[in-house]
Amino acid sequence: MNIAVVGLSHKTAPVEVREKLSIPTPQTADAIAQLTSYPHIEEVTILSTCNRLEILIVTEETEQGVREVTQFLADYGQLSLHELRQHLFILLHQDAITHLMRVSAGLDSLVLGEGQILSQVKHAHQLAQQHKGASRILNRLLKQAITAGKRVRTETNIGSGAVSISSAAVELAKLKQPNLGDCRISILGAGKMARLLVQHLLSKDATQITILNRTLPRANELAAQFQQASIRTGTMDELEATLVASDVVFTCTSATEPILDRQALEAILSPDQSMMLFDIAVPRNVHRNTNDLDNVHAFNVDDLKAVVAQNQESRRRMAMEAEAILENEVDSFLDWWRSLDTVVTISSLRSKIESIREQELEKALSRLGAEFGEKHQEVIEALTRGIVNKILHDPMVQLRAQRDIEARKHAMQTLHLLFNLEPTPSKK
Ligand SMILES: NC(=O)c1ccc[n+]([C@@H]2O[C@H](COP(=O)([O-])OP(=O)(O)OC[C@H]3O[C@@H](n4cnc5c(N)ncnc54)[C@H](OP(=O)(O)O)[C@@H]3O)[C@@H](O)[C@H]2O)c1
Repeated sequence: MNIAVVGLSHKTAPVEVREKLSIPTPQTADAIAQLTSYPHIEEVTILSTCNRLEILIVTEETEQGVREVTQFLADYGQLSLHELRQHLFILLHQDAITHLMRVSAGLDSLVLGEGQILSQVKHAHQLAQQHKGASRILNRLLKQAITAGKRVRTETNIGSGAVSISSAAVELAKLKQPNLGDCRISILGAGKMARLLVQHLLSKDATQITILNRTLPRANELAAQFQQASIRTGTMDELEATLVASDVVFTCTSATEPILDRQALEAILSPDQSMMLFDIAVPRNVHRNTNDLDNVHAFNVDDLKAVVAQNQESRRRMAMEAEAILENEVDSFLDWWRSLDTVVTISSLRSKIESIREQELEKALSRLGAEFGEKHQEVIEALTRGIVNKILHDPMVQLRAQRDIEARKHAMQTLHLLFNLEPTPSKK
């Protein structure tokens, strides 16, 4: 069995491409069902976030498995294979495992060390379990990646300073509008990203904040978490009136189509009203044609690269500490993975020796006769078990410890030959 990851991220694909390949939660079940129906995909997990879409698979035939995923992505995103391949990365075996651990720890994120990715990996794992995409190998790998992510967050300082895409968006806004306290600010959306936006805006002295959401109770709940600020709330019905009274607008809804475009803004903004839009949603909430308007300046997640460069520098040393933890977690997963091969040999060796032990014990007890007390029988039983366990201990440990695939295979063949074990059933 092999592990592979096929995907694209902020490092390989611009937001225009990423948004075509975003797989929202409600569509994950169908995507997993389709992927697992392909002949060479045994297990699958989909990680879809604003900065990446990664499909992790377990496959008996790597080349065909990867080809099936690539074709699925091209169909899903309605892209030609040629267009898609320019943005795709493919990682195999140990590289795929290490990559997942790094992603989970926030080391592959646009904002190095951001913590949201860990919950996104957990969410991807839950969906894969729920829709029967992940089984023995991916369950183990994802659990290990989540442990790795948690360890990096608790054992290093990489997560300090509560960095996120939202904090980077506020940094960028501050760069463009140094006095956020004087700006009328609107946020469209009231989810996790909106909460972080409010938090960072308040820390930058913003005072005039309005939150609009599809549903009012969620906007109110969010505003209530910041009692110290007086935040206005409303629904999308108030969008036009709110935009007219805004200098800076942040968009962070999970809508799959743009909420704002050139036509909409042109119709409501007077030519002398300028506006800055910071869109952190993927798929984007703000159509790219808004930048055609002279009085509108729109930025999206890819524009955050400029502000995160500084953040990256100061976090690089912490990232190095994290790499050592990840190496340890990768080794632990690889040890488990390698041990899977040896399970059949070990259990057939064990059952062969166990049946010899039972037969010989029975013969010995029948020779000793009925007067031989139950207590003595127990002692002899324990003695024989002890001898068997002690004899088997070293060969089993040695077999599991063989890291080299060929050496391990050779050791297993030798055991099969010397102990005349049943042949190992071939996988598929
Ligand atoms: N989570 C992250 O780490 C992260 C990082 C960067 C960017 N993003 C992007 O930010 C966006 C929001 O993410 P999130 O984590 O904050 O999501 P979330 O917590 O699930 O919140 C989703 C928000 O979107 C609204 N919404 C959903 N569908 C809508 C529609 N069709 N029209 C209008 N509003 C709609 C929801 O409104 P209701 O309350 O009415 O349902 C809610 O306010 C996504 O595009 C995501 O890709 C997320």
